[in-house]
Amino acid sequence: MTVADRWQINPQHFWMRGEQPEHPVSFDREKGFWNVYGYPEALEILSNPKVFSSDTSRLSEVRVDPELTEGNLVQMDDPGHGRLRRLVSHAFTPKIVNDLAPRIAELTHELLDEHAGRDRIELVSDLAYPLPVIVIAELLGVPSSDRHLFKEWAEVLFDPDNEITMNMPAEEQRRRMQEFVAKRQSIRDYFLGHAAERRTRPREDLLTQLVRAEVDGERLTDDQVVNFANLLLLAGHITTTLLLGNTVLCLDAHPDQAERVRADRSLVPTAIEESVRFLSPFALVARATNTDVEIAGTPVPRDQLLLVWVAAANRDPRQFADPHAFDIGRAPGSHLGFGRGVHFCLGAPLARLEGRIVLDILLDRFPKLRTDPDNPPVFRTNFEMNGVRELPLVARSG
Ligand code: HEM
Repeated sequence: MTVADRWQINPQHFWMRGEQPEHPVSFDREKGFWNVYGYPEALEILSNPKVFSSDTSRLSEVRVDPELTEGNLVQMDDPGHGRLRRLVSHAFTPKIVNDLAPRIAELTHELLDEHAGRDRIELVSDLAYPLPVIVIAELLGVPSSDRHLFKEWAEVLFDPDNEITMNMPAEEQRRRMQEFVAKRQSIRDYFLGHAAERRTRPREDLLTQLVRAEVDGERLTDDQVVNFANLLLLAGHITTTLLLGNTVLCLDAHPDQAERVRADRSLVPTAIEESVRFLSPFALVARATNTDVEIAGTPVPRDQLLLVWVAAANRDPRQFADPHAFDIGRAPGSHLGFGRGVHFCLGAPLARLEGRIVLDILLDRFPKLRTDPDNPPVFRTNFEMNGVRELPLVARSG
């Protein structure tokens, strides 16, 4: 029995059971899109944004109001993407991220101290959820006490009912899109209020930097600031929550690797990378074909939706020796868990930093840290997300 059999993984994620796809690229007739599972194929797609566009919304018959999408980097192509990415990179520099290290450590201790004296923690609600959301809220400059709102919004954005497939009747697509837009309105209003305030009363925060950031005399519009802040808040925290939970889960499932990292803390960074490869929080990225192409010998016409399963590519034996083994000593650097190319995850340095600090502190504080046989982990079973929703642990400090 593989560890994945013990975990309630979405049954469509066959690679988690150690299975290989019949073909690295295949068309899903029922849903009307292509699945890409292979590593070289995924790499080719992510490295060629001229042919494989990130603006997948253009494939839908339902037009989305541009004010809702402007500034959403993940769905943009060049030249707009490059310009906006340069602008926001000015406000999201490696120094800004590295300077957060002491605050991340302090928050981690504070959150764990709230449960001191107990020998049970629920890693997700006690630490892995609140930590990244407080960090990103403080960075943006919005009150972290509003985090119950952010959690509701994240659930809205990743609600499986939002799924729109190419074969759905246009009327159904339109209805789902309208519902989704209505649900997002409160998020927009929230950030619009904050952005407007920063224009008149600047502060020392990322939102102020975003409203001020300038490249070639150009500034971000309110819509761009709002949609980008929204992207950072929501894409940034759910994925990092998953990363933290998944790392602890993977080490628990592989006690030899847990002992290895306890004995040699220089392995913490590679343990984090291996967790992103082995149990990738973001299972897929989407692209649209701009021209007729051939991928792995399969002709794919233009204007097709491709789901590039980076989580499956991360288990491709053509790229990774013994891909279904969790090995924290693996040479890092080639997994696709943070994407690749021009859209490579802007928040990867922050996610890695949080992962390293948290793992180090957990190992320091809890010589014994194990899943609780009476209270097993609960998984997210979404299509696109991978990992634990609840992770009850026996955590002993002595
Ligand atoms: C893009 C994964 C954490 C912000 C991406 C992409 C992936 C990804 C796969 C590429 C999307 C594509 O090519 O279409 C992850 C994972 C994370 C994580 C697995 C945690 C373990 C974060 C954090 C932030 C963030 C903490 C921000 C604070 C972004 C942004 C983009 C992005 C802004 C869009 C970049 C662009 O399109 O140029 N992320 N992410 N991510 N991520 Fe992350």
